[in-house]
Amino acid sequence: MESVFIPRLPLTFLILLLLSQPCSGIKWLALSQTPPSQHVNKTQHCKLLPGLVSAQAQLCRTNLELMQTIIQAAREVKKTCQKTFADMRWNCSSIDAPKYLPDLERGTRESAFVYALSAAAISHTIARACTTGDLRLCSCGPIPGEIPEPGYRWGGCADNLHYGLMMGSKFSDAPMKMKKSGSHANKLMHLHNSEVGRQALRDALVMKCKCHGVSGSCSIRTCWRGLQDLKDIAMDLKTKYLSATKVVHRPMGTRKQLVPKDIDIRPVRENELVYLQSSPDFCAKNDKLGSFGTQDRQCNKTSSGSDSCDLMCCGRGYNPYTEQVVERCHCKYHWCCYVTCKKCERTVERYVCK
Ligand SMILES: *[C@@H]1O[C@H](CO)[C@@H](O)[C@H](O)[C@H]1NC(C)=O
Ligand SMILES: *[C@@H]1O[C@H](CO)[C@@H](O)[C@H](O)[C@H]1NC(C)=O
Ligand SMILES: *[C@@H]1O[C@H](CO)[C@@H](O)[C@H](O)[C@H]1NC(C)=O
Repeated sequence: MESVFIPRLPLTFLILLLLSQPCSGIKWLALSQTPPSQHVNKTQHCKLLPGLVSAQAQLCRTNLELMQTIIQAAREVKKTCQKTFADMRWNCSSIDAPKYLPDLERGTRESAFVYALSAAAISHTIARACTTGDLRLCSCGPIPGEIPEPGYRWGGCADNLHYGLMMGSKFSDAPMKMKKSGSHANKLMHLHNSEVGRQALRDALVMKCKCHGVSGSCSIRTCWRGLQDLKDIAMDLKTKYLSATKVVHRPMGTRKQLVPKDIDIRPVRENELVYLQSSPDFCAKNDKLGSFGTQDRQCNKTSSGSDSCDLMCCGRGYNPYTEQVVERCHCKYHWCCYVTCKKCERTVERYVCK
């Protein structure tokens, strides 16, 4: 017979543990691991989805179609975060739910970026889904009020930013709006950074046009308001990450607010990312701080940026290795209309950190 040891923690201890936990508002990113075959088309499915707080599960039950789009958004966040930080010591691998690491729970600069990107991505995905017809409760965004310039006319289907922002913030801010979750400072920080993400999204609504006219002469252009790609918004947020402001939670007037720590007394700006805890340098592995370390990471010997072997390897040095890459080469164009290529192998030298 097997016996299972169940530790009995006093109830008061458990309550204290719950209260002292930082607010985790991005557990829903665990949705990125939902298998593509798992279609959410029954309200019972909402119970099976990981990481949802009650208000999010409620939204799932009342709007199943939207949930499918939100799962897609979680995948986009993970992919885009890791691509955007592929050249940095912190490479966003901790986003891989369910093993959330402390770097995203403690209120660091890295969590500021992830919250901003998550908020932007969810609204971005919903706004686009309105346009493509994946969501039945919304459609194209409004046609702009102003009269277009000569040679231009409004047409096409605008991305529905308004609907995206409304439903996206309802879902992604829900954990921070709960009464009994985490510290007030953490919640304020996450809400602020989420709003910075949504502002970056608003700034990414640009005019997109298509040419018409005799044989592509482009005498008439049909234009609409469309969102830039998420990777561009992520680059914008990465710039904000690099210049993020450290804040403290301090009384201002009648309430406690986040204010910049070092700089003169000024309120936090609407377009700056803020963080409460300093990050480690991510050079060495430290599970407690959520650092994977950079051992065995690939570095670039000729770069002078953050992916250079000097910076990436933190001065520990690096090991070269060679890799065979297969490329298309000696391509020939055949009339009409195809191209044939040969395959060539080439040896390239690469480097990994010691
Ligand atoms: C729900 O999704 C499952 C799995 O993709 C599918 O087999 C089933 O036909 C769907 N049911 C409805 C009512 O659309
Ligand atoms: C990020 O870095 C860690 C540790 O160095 C590595 O194991 C992981 O594969 C990297 N992740 C990505 C997505 O590159
Ligand atoms: C290394 O960095 C240089 C300069 O930034 C760049 O041109 C090159 O493509 C990079 N190599 C790799 C393998 O990423």
